[in-house]
Amino acid sequence: MEYIIRKAQILLPSGEIFLGDLGVNQGKISAVAPIITPREETTIIEATGLTLLPGVIDPQVHFREPGLEHKEDLFTASCACAKGGVTSFLEMPNTRPLTVTQAELDDKLERSAAKSLVNYGFFIGATPENLPDLLTANPTCGIKIFMGSSHGALLVSQEEQLEPIFAQGKRLIAVHAEDQARIEQRRREFVGISDPAIHSEIQDEQTALNATQLAVKLSNKYQRRLHILHLSTGIEAEWLRENKADWITTEVTPQHLLLNTEAYEKIGTLAQMNPPLRSPENNGILWQALRDGVIDFIATDHAPHTLAEKAKDYPHSPSGMPGVETALPLMLTQAVAGRCTLAEVSRWMSSAVAKAYQIESKGSITPGYDADLVLVDLNAYRPVLREELLTKCGWSPFEGWNLTGWPVLTMVNGEIVYQNGKVNPEKRGKALNYTKY
Ligand code: DOR
Repeated sequence: MEYIIRKAQILLPSGEIFLGDLGVNQGKISAVAPIITPREETTIIEATGLTLLPGVIDPQVHFREPGLEHKEDLFTASCACAKGGVTSFLEMPNTRPLTVTQAELDDKLERSAAKSLVNYGFFIGATPENLPDLLTANPTCGIKIFMGSSHGALLVSQEEQLEPIFAQGKRLIAVHAEDQARIEQRRREFVGISDPAIHSEIQDEQTALNATQLAVKLSNKYQRRLHILHLSTGIEAEWLRENKADWITTEVTPQHLLLNTEAYEKIGTLAQMNPPLRSPENNGILWQALRDGVIDFIATDHAPHTLAEKAKDYPHSPSGMPGVETALPLMLTQAVAGRCTLAEVSRWMSSAVAKAYQIESKGSITPGYDADLVLVDLNAYRPVLREELLTKCGWSPFEGWNLTGWPVLTMVNGEIVYQNGKVNPEKRGKALNYTKY
């Protein structure tokens, strides 16, 4: 298909807005120009008043397939992505079975080819035993290590278990940085408390800092490419400001920027995630670290659980919140409110992610790049409504928030996967290619 997106406010890689046309041909961005002349077969998409951004690349999601499809599956999750302007995702290995071998990686790639509307990539999970798999698995965006908040065999918490993983191989290591020994000790201290707010006390700021410092120490020792997932505390951000080598990246979630421990009073266990929400002061420090480039980009950590599961009493309630449908409008609403710029949001949600994971031909509006695009409306506000959500879990921690920047159209590899409130369930994305690994 050939398209012209007409008279859009196009966000260029320079950060400037260009009012004009964007051509799409054979899945690629073919031109950006004041006016593009259509051919007979060209479909025109009128975009007057709308803003065109690179599609979001969400570098941390948990889509639950295989094994936990009662929470989410690759089809429902990718529909939610299409609606949220997420055109590519990197998915985590804590499925059932865990993604810890080549065969399990291949299985996810095959399932996604059959079911996912958007582009996909997968992490391989580290266990204390699978170093050979970590060295050879392909294609993968990187190795995921749960240093804490374990998922069975995925837990790699001891320095002597971590060291060989950092020492051998070259590919990116992404860490969930929480100190498991401290979590276990504090769980014993606070046993019997069912107020979910205790979650942020048990897995406290020190719990996160300890593990981040250990991961950075090992990364420095071997000059190993390290990514610290979902940074949650100001103390980590301030420590990284002084101690982050240029081969280390980090990310933050919209939850850790926009929610804090006050959320437990309003939404109870729906606010429970790992690492936990922090005090309100942390929101501001994380924002500043993001603006200053100490934090490189944004991930949703989309981690759906059913409402029935979430309704269990703490600590039996599972940790995690969905996010792919709301992340872009949440951040664009912040931009319109003046907290950051549109160009920053796009850098944090697209180009910086593509750069960090060496994802080919994605993350910016550049002729020759894949036509992964999202057209958003920055003039209207609409609330997050439970009945409109496409994630199978059917809830959001942001219900009732009045947001702007909702996607009007999402395009993946030059194909329309979402338009005017409807997903196109027939479309399929592709496996991501990585340049370096
Ligand atoms: O809260 C969380 N839930 N954090 C994670 O890192 C994992 C996730 C899950 O898979 O439920």
